[in-house]
Amino acid sequence: MKTLKRRGTIYMKGELEVPGDKSISHRAVILGSIANGITKVENFLDSEDCMRTVEAFRSMGVSITTKGTFLEIEGKGLSGLLEPLEPLYFGNSGTTARLMIGLLAGLPFSTVVYGDVSLTNRPMDRVITPINKMGATVLGRNESSYLPLALKGGNLEGITYELPVKSAQVKSGILLAGLQAKGTTRVIEQQQTRDHTERMLKAFGANIEVSGNGIQIDASKSLLGTDVYVPGDISSAAFMLSAAAIIPGSNVTVKKVGINKTRIGFLEVLQKMGANISISNERVLSGEDIGDVQITYNQLTGVVVEGEIIPRLIDEIPIIALLATQAEGNTIIRNAEELRVKETDRIAAVVNVLRTMGANIEATDEGMIIKGKSSLKGGSVSAYQDHRIAMMIVIASLISEQDVTIDDISSISISYPRFLDDLESILKNNS
Ligand code: S3P
Repeated sequence: MKTLKRRGTIYMKGELEVPGDKSISHRAVILGSIANGITKVENFLDSEDCMRTVEAFRSMGVSITTKGTFLEIEGKGLSGLLEPLEPLYFGNSGTTARLMIGLLAGLPFSTVVYGDVSLTNRPMDRVITPINKMGATVLGRNESSYLPLALKGGNLEGITYELPVKSAQVKSGILLAGLQAKGTTRVIEQQQTRDHTERMLKAFGANIEVSGNGIQIDASKSLLGTDVYVPGDISSAAFMLSAAAIIPGSNVTVKKVGINKTRIGFLEVLQKMGANISISNERVLSGEDIGDVQITYNQLTGVVVEGEIIPRLIDEIPIIALLATQAEGNTIIRNAEELRVKETDRIAAVVNVLRTMGANIEATDEGMIIKGKSSLKGGSVSAYQDHRIAMMIVIASLISEQDVTIDDISSISISYPRFLDDLESILKNNS
């Protein structure tokens, strides 16, 4: 239980760097481990989720040393990975699960994989269906659609697969299987999802081509270890930028943050809501776009968020919902049914939390409708063991009229262990 005390008159001011991108950190560990030679990773996100991926490769014989946010991986090559002696534990990490299932499908040994309660209830058939088509054997409960799963990999054949879900995790799992399959594997997306896997595979020398909404990969003789700089995570930056967006007098800059176009739907929505945002120092590092994002406070107005932008801001919807409670007019979020199968059902969680705090918000099957602007009263809420819900509540508490009590905020360490300290560093008191 944690009580967030009512604050006096505050505003957000200052510059900060947020920790490394979660998606890119996972991928750097995976590709570094299956490449030949050394991969050095700078600004790695040393959070619980990413350490699950590190531990999985250590169990397969890969030496990975960590010194704070610096990581050195002695890549073994795909053929050098060892059959793990113990089941692989993926904790809360959907990214570890979907990407590793794809990778393990191509490796010539058996593995058992499992996760925590939340992950055990998240659908895995979305990645198992395509890898079954490629020739992998997977066994698990409910027709092999949930963890724990037993996998027997090897001897895959390339397929052409149109993704039925808008998911970068599934796309990436298939590409990692395709890297080991006979013949070409093609993945076609209905809507573009984050493309970090494609970019990084290219940097490691894989035989991959992207054209329009299609990606094609052939088995590569070997990937070559390379250095990776991980940009700040825009999904973590979103919380700091949002605090500045709803607290008058704020002016915050998040430096060296990833601004890959497949990830910045959140910035586009903020701009559409009327926020003052500017991006400077734009450059490309390790194949990823990076820049400094500055925001100054401005009254927001409601917007419609739907269609192709949804996969580009899927993780930011909880915090967008909070922004919408402070915007003038209505905000409608549609086509976001994927939120139902995240770390928790994020449509139900966001609506319950914000309504308890005093917002005018209702759930729909595939999104939510928020009527602004309403003042948040505070109260006692659950973070549903979900890091992004917990951080959204902490930001909401900054503008609440009374104290906010959260059942448990330990989930924050899944993606942003030093979140509370970073937030305090830009929080200023008027008195
Ligand atoms: C991720 C993809 C998204 C996102 C998750 C990280 C990734 O999930 O929500 O936090 O690293 O590929 P889906 O692919 O399930 O949409």
